[in-house]
Amino acid sequence: MGSGKMLLILAGDGIGPEVMAEVRRLIEWLERKRGFGLQVIEGLVGGAAIDAHGVPIDEATMADAMAADAVLLGAVGGPKWDSLPFERKPERGLLRLRKDLELFANLRPAVVFNALVDASPLKPELVRGLDIMIVRELTGGVYFGEPRGIETLADGSRRGVNTQVYTTEEIRRVARVAFEIAAGRSKRVCSADKANVMESGVLWREEVQRLHDEAFPDIELTHMYADNCAMQLVRNPSQFDVIVTDNLFGDILSDEAAMLTGSLGMLPSASLGAADAVGRRRALYEPVHGSAPDIAGKGIANPLAVILSFAMCLRLSLDRAGDAALIEAAVQRVLDGGLRTADIMQVDKARISTRVMGEAIIRELDKIAA
Ligand code: IPM
Ligand code: MG
Repeated sequence: MGSGKMLLILAGDGIGPEVMAEVRRLIEWLERKRGFGLQVIEGLVGGAAIDAHGVPIDEATMADAMAADAVLLGAVGGPKWDSLPFERKPERGLLRLRKDLELFANLRPAVVFNALVDASPLKPELVRGLDIMIVRELTGGVYFGEPRGIETLADGSRRGVNTQVYTTEEIRRVARVAFEIAAGRSKRVCSADKANVMESGVLWREEVQRLHDEAFPDIELTHMYADNCAMQLVRNPSQFDVIVTDNLFGDILSDEAAMLTGSLGMLPSASLGAADAVGRRRALYEPVHGSAPDIAGKGIANPLAVILSFAMCLRLSLDRAGDAALIEAAVQRVLDGGLRTADIMQVDKARISTRVMGEAIIRELDKIAA
């Protein structure tokens, strides 16, 4: 029954392991009911890896990540590790995975489920049917630019430096992903930058436009300053289809877009590398929510973001689009049925635990696939 596919699971810290347990249940279900034999290996990342090995990710786990068809990650970080030196923090494990696997394109869909329209802090008429895809550049820009550091000056005061830097190729490869995604949607891309103050932003704008004119003339391309884009996202979010932007702006705009949907606990993401000769891309999938230390260990976290991340993984990395659609349908039906974890709780709905949410998804899958 083996599919020959290998998935590396890195549950990480905080609520990571709790929500990931519900994905394990789905994997068992797929094997039992759909004959999908996925080879799963596990590893440590973030604080969990620091506690076990003294580093936020070790070489053996990096080698597994390189060899796997995909990586599914829970979350990293927590107060226990906050005072560690910068290079040893849990987040560095995630950043190293992104950088070493060259996962330059981060896809963050912000989709509002009908059942959750009222959970959005925005008026229902603004968010009903909302379906935005943010494509964030993930391996460049100020996150990785050199020089960087904190230095002590002659007078004893200090200076912190980071560098915002992009090359033509870094801009073009992520813009290409955005145009290709838009081609399968409503064919609109908005590129967000700060070309009004940053040279790297001027280059970003010119290169995105040039690639568009050369290769994607059928896609409608607009440019927006990132601050205006942040404003427009809450003023009139449905004007957007695909947004492409750099690493830092993408970090911020994707959190904002996520909240439009009512809960960070619902949102998946995919981080993709370049396609090889047979079209296979390195890929890492993770929920947009973090490790949520305040609720970790209580069994109340929402497992839907990591479940939907796994669905993206099935579709984009494991050639199982049918199974991805089944899982997405099950999520929809469980929400329509009124079950809610605490983060998406609404009046008159039933508040359930992480585990019960996972079980409810399996029950719906049994019904749909029967
Ligand atoms: C994200 C997170 C990360 C980032 C942190 C955890 C390093 O905020 O994935 O958006 O800033 O990229
Ligand atoms: Mg972020």
